[in-house]
Amino acid sequence: MKHLISLNDCTTEEIHNLLNLAMKLKKENYAGIKHHILKGKSLGMIFTKSSTRTRVSFEVGMYQLGGQSLFLSSNDIQLGRGETIYDTANVLSRYLDGIMIRTFDHQDVLDLAKYGQISIINGLTDLLHPCQILADLQTIYEHKGKLEGLKLCYVGDGNNISNSLLHGCTKVGMDISIASPKGYECDEECVENAKNTAKKTSCSVVLTENPEEAVKNADIVVTDTWVSMGQESEKQERIKVFGSYTVDDKLFAMAKDDAIFMHCLPAYRGYEVTDSVIDGPRSVIFDEAENRLHAQKAVMATVMAD
Ligand code: CP
Ligand code: NVA
Repeated sequence: MKHLISLNDCTTEEIHNLLNLAMKLKKENYAGIKHHILKGKSLGMIFTKSSTRTRVSFEVGMYQLGGQSLFLSSNDIQLGRGETIYDTANVLSRYLDGIMIRTFDHQDVLDLAKYGQISIINGLTDLLHPCQILADLQTIYEHKGKLEGLKLCYVGDGNNISNSLLHGCTKVGMDISIASPKGYECDEECVENAKNTAKKTSCSVVLTENPEEAVKNADIVVTDTWVSMGQESEKQERIKVFGSYTVDDKLFAMAKDDAIFMHCLPAYRGYEVTDSVIDGPRSVIFDEAENRLHAQKAVMATVMAD
């Protein structure tokens, strides 16, 4: 693997290898075992959107692996003033060993990989958030002891999280059901990809407008903000449209008795999820957030190590 841009590009085996490495690195980190897998390597981190978890986990992860990271806010680099992706990719390839980029247009990430000569990691685009879903799969495995055969239900906006969940779940043989309102469904190509993968890994992809139907028998219930970064002007409209998609106690109770609740964070309590669910005993949101660190270390070690 040279890049991590979409989980759809990964084989099932590559995803399992990343998860196994993430769990090994986590265990070793707890045991105080130090690694220098990326000694002498530099990662540039381009952000054109805000971040807490992605920035901090990549930065700390790079440090823990013996390398260094550079935070490159688009406000401060020439990309933000109109320098092309082509020039940026070629120039940064002369200094760095890898770039993690968080931005709006997914095509910009593909272009960085096309024109640059170094590893590119997708730290979120409007379309996908693969690093988050790796951490999610790790968290599910740690809580449920397996992935294949489980059912994950996502309730809410068809966005970068649900699109990457479609890829990730079907690659590892998990059933996935998604409930979104009309007009706010997942990306069509991602759905198509997931359905094709599901045929090979013998799992199912169900899309509906009905949250109760989707959540039935789920082992994992996931939601995300109704207003992703860049959609702030649509906030009032979205709050109206998504009104009946809140994950509350009543909806969560329709999943399995031992179902866990997940959210990539940041969360907007009272909108996509109630306090009672997100702060309840079956919420694993902070394990999920922690696993960003371990999953990201696995990604960097896989795509950037010699
Ligand atoms: N979940 C996630 O990517 O969080 P940040 O936006 O804080 O990086
Ligand atoms: N869907 C959210 C995820 C944030 C991590 C967004 O794109 O803003």
